Amino acid sequence: MSRVYNFSAGPAVLPEEVLKEVADEMMDYNGTGMSVMEMSHRSAAFQEIIDTAEKDLRELMNIPDNYKVLFLQGGASQQFAMIPMNLMKNKVADYIVTGQWAKKAYQEAQKYGKANKIASSEDKTFSYIPDCSDLPISPDADYVYICENNTIYGTKFKELPNTKGKTLVADVSSCFLSEPVDVSKYGIIYGGVQKNIGPAGMVIVIIREDLITEDVLPGTPTMLTYKTHADAGSLYNTPNAYCIYVCGKVFKWLKKMGGLEEMKRRNEEKAKILYDFLDSSKLFHGTVVPKDRSLMNVPFVTGDKEMDAKFVTEAAKAGLVNLKGHRSVGGMRASIYNAMPKEGVEALVAFMKKFEEENA
Ligand SMILES: Cc1ncc(COP(=O)(O)O)c(C=O)c1O
Repeated sequence: MSRVYNFSAGPAVLPEEVLKEVADEMMDYNGTGMSVMEMSHRSAAFQEIIDTAEKDLRELMNIPDNYKVLFLQGGASQQFAMIPMNLMKNKVADYIVTGQWAKKAYQEAQKYGKANKIASSEDKTFSYIPDCSDLPISPDADYVYICENNTIYGTKFKELPNTKGKTLVADVSSCFLSEPVDVSKYGIIYGGVQKNIGPAGMVIVIIREDLITEDVLPGTPTMLTYKTHADAGSLYNTPNAYCIYVCGKVFKWLKKMGGLEEMKRRNEEKAKILYDFLDSSKLFHGTVVPKDRSLMNVPFVTGDKEMDAKFVTEAAKAGLVNLKGHRSVGGMRASIYNAMPKEGVEALVAFMKKFEEENA
C-alpha cells in the first residue's frame, strides 16, 4: 500500500485511522453480519449510528438545544436554493460575495426574491474579505449570507459581519470543524462534508428552530423544506446512510484528538509552516491579503504559468498530489484540512524549497 499526501480541495483527505476502521467493518458492522451500506436506514443499528453522530457533533460544536442538526443530500449547492425557499418571508436577502460559491448562492437566491449584493471582493479577484463592520443591511432582509471560508481563493472571515440584528447564514463547507465556533451567532451554519468530514454527497445543516416553519415559498418541494427533515430526524427518505456512518467516525476521531480547540491549534501550526515559507520564498507567493488567509486552503503562484505546471507535475511524482489551483484562478492550491498531518505540510514545504533551488 502506498499513500500519497493528498492536497485536494474536496473530496479530500480523511483520517487514516477512520479509513482503516471502516475497512475493518466492511463485511460485518458490529455483529450485524452486514456492511452499513447494506443496512436498512430504519434498523436499530442505523438509528444508533445517526443518533451517535448527531450527539458527537453537538458535543464537538457545543450546539445549543434550540438548534436542529440535519443530514441532507444535494450537497452544499442545494442549500443555495433551499435557504431562500425556506427563509425569504419578505423576499429580501443580503449577500456578501467573497468568491465563486457565495456568488452562486447569490445568483440562485435571485430566482426567489430580491437578493442584494451588499459587499464584494471581486474587484481584486476575491483576494480579501471586505470590511463588514457597517454594511448597508436592508431593513427588511430575511437574512445576511456569507461563505465563511472561500475554498477557491483561500480567504476566511476572521470576524463575522455585523448583520445589525439580522439572521446570519453561513456556508462553512471548507472550514467545518476546523476550529471552535459560537453556533448561537448564526441562524444557519451548513456545509458539504466532503472537505473536512467525510465522503461526498451530503450536507450538514445546523439550523435554529424558529427558522424551521411551514411558511415557505409557494411551490417549495417537500424534500426542500427544512421542516420535512427536522420532523423526521433526517430520515424522511433514505438518507446517505454510509456517509453519515463515516462522518460519525470522523466526529469520534476529532473528539479523541482533543476536539476543536486542539484542531485549531494544529491547523494554525500547519498553516504557519506553509505561509512562513511563502513569505520568505523568492519563487512562490501567496495570493491572499495576509490578515484574511484561510487555515484550510492555501493558494500560491510563481507568476509563470509554465513554472506552475512544472511544479504541479513534479510534486505529483514526489507523492504530493492535487496541488493544481482551481481552474478559475490557476497557480497552485494546497488544501490542508484537519486530516492532513503536519508531516504532509512539512513534506510539501521541503519539496517547494528544493524546487526553488533547482529552478532559481
Ligand atoms: C465553500 C463551498 N461551498 C459550496 C460548495 C459546493 O459543494 P457541493 O459540491 O457539495 O454542492 C463547495 C465545493 O467545493 C465549496 O467549497
